[in-house]
Amino acid sequence: MTQLPAAQKPPRDSARATDNPRALYGGAGTRRVTVRDLLAAKERGEKWPMLTAYDAMTASVFDEAGIPVLLVGDSMGNCHLGFDTTVPVTMDHMAMLSAAVVRGTSRALVVGDLTFGSYQEGPVQALRSATRLIKESGVGAVKLEGGERSLAQTETLVQAGIPVMSHLGLTPQSVHTLGYRVQGRGDEAAHQLLRDAKAAEQAGAFAVVLELVPAEVAAEVTRSLHIPTIGIGAGPDTDAQVLVWTDMAGMTGGKVPRFTKQFANLRQVLGDAARAYADEVVGGAFPAEAHTFH
Ligand code: KIV
Repeated sequence: MTQLPAAQKPPRDSARATDNPRALYGGAGTRRVTVRDLLAAKERGEKWPMLTAYDAMTASVFDEAGIPVLLVGDSMGNCHLGFDTTVPVTMDHMAMLSAAVVRGTSRALVVGDLTFGSYQEGPVQALRSATRLIKESGVGAVKLEGGERSLAQTETLVQAGIPVMSHLGLTPQSVHTLGYRVQGRGDEAAHQLLRDAKAAEQAGAFAVVLELVPAEVAAEVTRSLHIPTIGIGAGPDTDAQVLVWTDMAGMTGGKVPRFTKQFANLRQVLGDAARAYADEVVGGAFPAEAHTFH
């Protein structure tokens, strides 16, 4: 394989979505996106896309496509490592795959998840986990679940100079208590979501993921915060959107959540390629003369 490291790759495709050179998506960036760029995009009212990534090669595709933020989500449990939930994912998994994503990219801000059990004990444990992830992988920020309940952790990380993305609404690490259901329905739940979002902002988080919450509640949270909201199953009015890449590209087998949209059918494409290869091997058509050394 003659894959160029991301830093030596030619500039991204010149087809730009906008003429604004500062734009997060479609701009002419030559350096890594920072959390300050995301705050500036909110002030400009510019929407932006985020995707998950779990390996260097896929990450390089998204980086070249101009996706400004890549999340090494603990969804790697379901989408990459073959677990049923995110709960078994460890910081060892996270550090290794985050490092791969950082190596595969040159422009995207790479955010790594703090995994279940790596920050719930308190601020000291959170700081230890986040410090390790940043040192070992080179991610530019970390994400953790919870607003008010993770306030002390968020404050401690921010004070240590670590950018924190907060994750509210359906928080998959709590699947055993929440299930996979829409969160924030009803007045009290909506008020709690808003309190959580404000707590995260006050603690210094630079962005808030809102997963599986009613669109009206997500819109209200988005209007109330100075930091960007990133929606997944949260309607059209958040500042940014995130999708799990295997869902977005049609790689996930079986049923995908209603809020996701498949922009390709990669599972079909890969399966077809594997079958075409196997047919040629079995039939003797591959390798041909062109693939053979003498
Ligand atoms: O782990 C993940 O991929 C996430 C996104 C769904 C936001 O947390």
